[in-house]
Amino acid sequence: MKLAKALKLFLSLLLWLCLPSASTPTSSQGDRENGGSEYRRYPSIRRASSFSSNSGKDGYDYIIVGGGTAGCPLAATLSEKYRVLLLERGGVPFGNYNVSHMQNFHLTLADTSPNSASQEFISTDGVFNSRARVLGGGTCINAGFYTRASSSYVKRAGWDAKLVNESYPWIENQIVFRPKLTPWQRAVRDGLLEVGISPFNGFTYDHKYGTKVGGTIFDEDGIRHTAAELLASGNRENLHVLVHASVQKIVFDTSAGEQPKAIGVIFKDENGEEHQALVSERQGSEVIVSCGTIGSPQLLLLSGIGPKADLRKLNISVVVDNHFVGKGLSDNPLNTVFVPINKPVRQSLIQTVGITKMGVYIEASCGFGQSTDSIQRHHGIVSAEIGQLTTIPPKHRTKEAIQAYKDRKKDLPFEAFMGGFILEKIATPKSKGQLSLINTNPDDNPSVTFNYFSHPYDVKRCVNGIRIMEKILQSKHFTNYTSFNKDSVENLLNMSVKANVNLLPKHMNDTSCLEQFCKDTVITIWHYHGGCHVGKVVGPDYRVLGVNGLRIVDGSTFYESPGTNPQATVMMLGRYMGVKILRERLGRAAGV
Ligand SMILES: Cc1cc2nc3c(=O)[nH]c(=O)nc-3n(C[C@H](O)[C@H](O)[C@H](O)COP(=O)(O)OP(=O)(O)OC[C@H]3O[C@@H](n4cnc5c(N)ncnc54)[C@H](O)[C@@H]3O)c2cc1C
Ligand SMILES: *[C@@H]1O[C@H](CO)[C@@H](O)[C@H](O)[C@H]1NC(C)=O
Ligand SMILES: *[C@@H]1O[C@H](CO)[C@@H](O)[C@H](O)[C@H]1NC(C)=O
Ligand SMILES: *[C@@H]1O[C@H](CO)[C@@H](O)[C@H](O)[C@H]1NC(C)=O
Ligand SMILES: *[C@@H]1O[C@H](CO)[C@@H](O)[C@H](O)[C@H]1NC(C)=O
Ligand SMILES: *[C@@H]1O[C@H](CO)[C@@H](O)[C@H](O)[C@H]1NC(C)=O
Ligand SMILES: *[C@@H]1O[C@H](CO)[C@@H](O)[C@H](O)[C@H]1NC(C)=O
Repeated sequence: MKLAKALKLFLSLLLWLCLPSASTPTSSQGDRENGGSEYRRYPSIRRASSFSSNSGKDGYDYIIVGGGTAGCPLAATLSEKYRVLLLERGGVPFGNYNVSHMQNFHLTLADTSPNSASQEFISTDGVFNSRARVLGGGTCINAGFYTRASSSYVKRAGWDAKLVNESYPWIENQIVFRPKLTPWQRAVRDGLLEVGISPFNGFTYDHKYGTKVGGTIFDEDGIRHTAAELLASGNRENLHVLVHASVQKIVFDTSAGEQPKAIGVIFKDENGEEHQALVSERQGSEVIVSCGTIGSPQLLLLSGIGPKADLRKLNISVVVDNHFVGKGLSDNPLNTVFVPINKPVRQSLIQTVGITKMGVYIEASCGFGQSTDSIQRHHGIVSAEIGQLTTIPPKHRTKEAIQAYKDRKKDLPFEAFMGGFILEKIATPKSKGQLSLINTNPDDNPSVTFNYFSHPYDVKRCVNGIRIMEKILQSKHFTNYTSFNKDSVENLLNMSVKANVNLLPKHMNDTSCLEQFCKDTVITIWHYHGGCHVGKVVGPDYRVLGVNGLRIVDGSTFYESPGTNPQATVMMLGRYMGVKILRERLGRAAGV
């Protein structure tokens, strides 16, 4: 079974490599087996260099920039009725082992080469972070946990709740699964209930107070399903996808009327050649940006929409002076404690979550400590190799510190990996930051600042969260599960810094000590959002203020991260906006 799957992935990769300009293989090419028929579900996916301005003979009604978590469902939906060009700077996720296999989660994030599916960035706060660079976006590199936003979130966002409720299942029916709970996840679930994070809401996608088990985009074999698969439900006649297409800027027609109108984009292909793609002149054609929280504000700035003074400094001609672009960025701080266990653990990313009334979410994760092979020993989402250096305060985390950890890792005893993490995430951080360009190269990261814990309310909630963690650790269910003895705990304490794990802070009763612990051990759960807020950069219909023919649809528009974890709602928004736009243009004839 596993072998067949691996073969299938390998075959699809091979087919894609062999057929760079005709990615839908015909049956004569020996693809009658699973691999081929699976691959035929996809629309035309080509390398960017195959683009010719004739490709869109009748012109494209929509050019979508960014084939990520929101961009893929949006493109598939719009292609039901219109001609769509989707431009993604990364490659395909198909056949990439680091992407497809759950146990390789940390490998993608550790891979800092230019063709990695993940692009590392380090905020000025010193926290190591990652952004996607692959068709499917964040869904190809994330921890897979799938859970919806609350009804009150949907209300606050001003969305049509009925259409929201129709859009989530469109995603769920294609790529979401029910997880098999691992012992570690079960222990945290029982601990949460015992300390009063109740009721138990069972397995559900819904956001409700209490403890629950959410969905996952990993199937029962640990194989990842991504937003790129949603492209299979698009109309293949209408949908063209270009990978390795890095958009440099949006092209505006400034002669059209009172407002500049977005008419297309300039992009570079995998050989560095520039191309221009334009939307058709038909009424209603648009450029839609779905480049994510870092990419979307960055592309607006590069295209001349942003704070005038900042743009002038880089000689970017100003299209719209809007000082909100790149502002109001935030990342939910994550703090963790390591819990040693007196037996080998089975890896799990995130399955269980406690939704408290004090504005923190408690989740659980563990690495892999079963094998004696040092490569197979890691701390999953808290792996030091990916910059989650929780024993070093953020400002002191360096590449050298990561290298030092890698060097000593092989000498660490196997027990250092036998354990799990309890995670605490601040639901709605009040601390805000911003992003600004360093240069005009779209491949480089802008300067990003999150100001973690600069607001005292965030610190207070973190301290409360740690107190919940302590109670969970002391709960009967939990101690029964971990069943470690004093010696093994002491042993671990002795090597905790070497192993980059944080046990509980030593002085639990001292609030100022806990506050410092929060600040010193902060890492990311990668739920950063904002930068193109509704009402500031885009209107309620996600149209960019001050220009025509341009929208932004992705997590950069969020004031708060939706649900306990955002991907469900980002994908939902892609589908939702696709349907909205079709209905807007076609009325009932849209048929969606
Ligand atoms: C490591 C990690 C773990 C996570 N774990 C979870 C989890 O378990 N559960 C959960 O719900 N959420 C999780 N998240 C968060 C979630 O995955 C993201 O919030 C979500 O994917 C963001 O979607 P987006 O559409 O806004 O951006 P993205 O999915 O990042 O899409 C943006 C796309 O635009 C492309 N792009 C950018 N600039 C350009 C350009 N100039 N030209 C062309 N293309 C461009 C990018 O390559 C990318 O594919 C995690 C995120 C990460 C990084
Ligand atoms: C997987 O990641 C490792 C490093 O973490 C890297 O060396 C390797 O090239 C990656 N493999 C693929 C197929 O991208
Ligand atoms: C949408 O679904 C949620 C549960 O998932 C429910 O509570 C809500 O009432 C539904 N809203 C509408 C308008 O159907
Ligand atoms: C902007 O243009 C001026 C004049 O052409 C030049 O002197 C300056 O170096 C440019 N600045 C940047 C950042 O490119
Ligand atoms: C403790 O663990 C044992 C064995 O796993 C189990 O039989 C027992 O019911 C557990 N007790 C509690 C309180 O969870
Ligand atoms: C931990 O370190 C202390 C001081 O170095 C030492 O006395 C103790 O024996 C160690 N404990 C274990 C279990 O190794
Ligand atoms: C912490 O406070 C609790 C309750 O006030 C008390 O029972 C406990 O002994 C204190 N622990 C320490 C280490 O001071």
